Amino acid sequence: MGIDFILDELDDLQNRSLLREHKIIEGAQGPYVHINGKSYLSFCSNNYLGLANHPKIKQASIDAIHQYGWGAGASRLVSGTMTLHQELEKKIAEFKGTEAALLFPTGYMANLGALCALVSRGDMVIGDKLNHASIIDGCRLSGATFRIYPHKDVSQLESLLQRSSGYRRKLVITDSVFSMDGDTAPIPEIVNIARKYDAMLMVDDAHATGVFGKQGKGLIEHYGLEGKIDVVMGSFSKALGSVGGFIAGSKPLIDFLKNKARPFIYTTALPPAVCAASLAGLALIQEDASLIDSLWRNIASLKTRLLQFMRTISVESPIVPLIAGSAEDAVKVSSKLYENGILIPAIRPPTVPPGTSRLRISLMATHSENDINRLIETLQHVGFLTHERTTLRM
Ligand SMILES: Cc1ncc(COP(=O)(O)O)c(C=O)c1O
Repeated sequence: MGIDFILDELDDLQNRSLLREHKIIEGAQGPYVHINGKSYLSFCSNNYLGLANHPKIKQASIDAIHQYGWGAGASRLVSGTMTLHQELEKKIAEFKGTEAALLFPTGYMANLGALCALVSRGDMVIGDKLNHASIIDGCRLSGATFRIYPHKDVSQLESLLQRSSGYRRKLVITDSVFSMDGDTAPIPEIVNIARKYDAMLMVDDAHATGVFGKQGKGLIEHYGLEGKIDVVMGSFSKALGSVGGFIAGSKPLIDFLKNKARPFIYTTALPPAVCAASLAGLALIQEDASLIDSLWRNIASLKTRLLQFMRTISVESPIVPLIAGSAEDAVKVSSKLYENGILIPAIRPPTVPPGTSRLRISLMATHSENDINRLIETLQHVGFLTHERTTLRM
C-alpha cells in the first residue's frame, strides 16, 4: 500500500486527459512568451493590461528594494507591517470607495480568510455555482451551511434566502466577472435581494479590477454600487500584473478581519517591493486611460472576428471561453494550437464542469490586431473554428 495510490491516481488522471502539467516560461510575461527557446503567442494570461512587465512597475519595485530590502521578515501583526503595506491599503480603500482595506498575500487567501472569519457553524453561506475555487474552498472550510444557486439565477438565490431564517448569520457571495466564463454577475439584483433578507454580501471583483469601471475601479463601481457591498474582495494578480489579494469595506470589518482572518494573521507579510509594484500599477491605470481603452478595443475586435463564425455571441470581458466539450478534445485543440505557435492550455474538470472543457482565451491590451487575426486564422487552420459553429458553447 504505502503511497502506491499516488501512481494509480496519476495514471487515472492521464487516462482521462486530466493530468495537469505546466510549461516553463523563459523570460517576461507578455503577448509573446518563450518556451524551450521558441516564441509563442499567448492568449492565456490574466495580465490583461500588460503591467506584469511594465517599466514603471519594475522601476517602482527596484526602488523599493533599495529602500526597504526584500523580505518583510514577519507576519503583519508581529512586525511585518511596513510603510508600503499601510500606503497600499489606504490606496485600495480610496480606489474601491470604502473606509478601509486589508492586504492578504494572495486573492485565494483573501477569500479564504474573509469567509472563514465571517461565517461558521450555525450560519449560512450562499454562492453562485460558478464561483471561483477559492470561494468554494472558503465556504466549505468555514463550517457554515453552504448552499449553491444555479449560475446567475437570482430567483433561486432568493428562494434559498427565504428558507434561511433559522440561521444566525447569512452571507451571499459571488464573483463579479466569472473567471472561466468571462460573464458578469447581476450585481444590482443581488444587492437588492441580499438587503431584503438582511444577508451580508461579498463580491469577488478580482477579474473586474483594472478592467471595468472608471479608471478600472471594477464592476461594483461600474454599476454605481460603491459603498453598497459589505465585503469587496480583489486581487493584484490579474490586470494589475502583480501579486496579493485584498478585502475592502468598513473600518469595523477590516479591524475584525485583522483579528479573525487566519490567512492574514498566520503568514508572513508581502515583501514591501510587491506593494510598491501594486501601488505603481494602481497609479498607472488611473493616470493612463489608454491601457484600458486598448484592452476594450481588443475585446471588441475579437468579438467582431468571432461573429464571422457564429450568429450570436456574448463577450463581456477579456475572458472568452471556446467550449470544446470533452477534456480529450480540449487537450487536442490546445496541442494543435501549440504546434502552431499559440499558447492556450485546455481548461478541464475540476476547474470547469465535466463536458465543458474549453479553451479560455484571455486578451491583453498589448495584443495587436495582427495577433488577434493570427489567433482566428490558427483556430480555423486547426479545424476548431468553422462556419458551422453557431455558439461559443457546444
Ligand atoms: C475570481 C477569482 N478570485 C480569486 C482568485 C485568486 O486570486 P490570486 O490569484 O490572487 O490568489 C482568482 C484567481 O485565480 C480568481 O479568478
